[in-house]
Amino acid sequence: MKDTENIIDNIDKSKMPKHVAIIMDGNGRWAKKRGLPRIAGHWAGAKVLRDIVKFSAEIEIKVLSVFAFSSENWKRPYEEVNSILNLLLYYLKKEVNNLHKNNIIINITGEWQKLPGNIADEIKRGIELTKNNTGLVLNIVLNYGSRKEIVKACRDLCNEVKNGRINIDEIDESLFEQFLFTRGLPDPDLLIRPSGELRISNFLLWQIAYTELWFTDKYWPDFKREDLINAILDYQKRERRFGGLKK
Ligand code: IPE
Ligand code: IPE
Ligand code: MG
Repeated sequence: MKDTENIIDNIDKSKMPKHVAIIMDGNGRWAKKRGLPRIAGHWAGAKVLRDIVKFSAEIEIKVLSVFAFSSENWKRPYEEVNSILNLLLYYLKKEVNNLHKNNIIINITGEWQKLPGNIADEIKRGIELTKNNTGLVLNIVLNYGSRKEIVKACRDLCNEVKNGRINIDEIDESLFEQFLFTRGLPDPDLLIRPSGELRISNFLLWQIAYTELWFTDKYWPDFKREDLINAILDYQKRERRFGGLKK
C-alpha cells in the first residue's frame, strides 16, 4: 500500500476512466524467467488480479474488464489449457463469495456457457449471486474472440430480420451493439496491456474504437497498484477528441 500512497493523490477524481480494460498478458514469460512452469505464472497472475479488482473498487472505477482466456488460446497444448481451466474453477470457487461481500457485480463476456459444466455452473452462481450489487462491475472476458463476437452478432441480427422482428433500415451502431456480449456496458476508456506486446490480440475490437491505449513492459504477475495509477494518470493527461476538434 505504501508505494501507492503518494501518487494516488495525483489522480483527478473528476476525470476517472469509467471503464478500464486489461489484457492480462505475460504470465508464461514471467514463469520462464524464474525457471518455473508456465502454470505458476498463471497462478501468480490470478493473485495480482485479486488485488487489482479490490483496488479498482476502492478507487471507484465502474467497470473493470479483464481478458482471461481467448477463443484462440484453445490452440495451446492440452496440459496448459487444462491447468488454466482448473485455475479458473479454483478462482471462481474461492472468489465469488468474496466479490459478493465487496458489492461487486460479476459479468462475463464470451461464450462461457460452452465451458466445462462445473465452470459454467460456478459462473452462473456468481452472476446470480451478485446481480443486484451496486459496486464495481468485474467483467471477466472468457472464451472470447472479438471477430467471433462480431460474426455472431451479425448472425443473430440476420435472424431477427428474417423473422420480421427487425427492419434492415433500423440497423445502426446502437442497435448493432445490443447484439454484442458487452451490451449494456460502456466502451472502455482505457485499455492496459502489460508484457511488452504492442497489439490487441482480438480483444474488444468494436468497443475500443476510441479507447486510450497504455502499454507496459512488465509482465502481468509483476503488475502493481501503482502501475494502474500511472496508467490512469497518463490517461488523465490525454485529450480525447472522438474525431472532433479540441474543446
Ligand atoms: C496470458 O499470459 C494468459 C493467457 C493467455 C491465458 P500468457 O500465457 O499469454 O503469457 P505469455 O504471453 O506466454 O508470457
Ligand atoms: C491475449 O494474450 C489473451 C489473454 C491475455 C487472455 P495472448 O498471449 O493470447 O496473445 P498473443 O498470442 O500474444 O497475441
Ligand atoms: Mg501471451
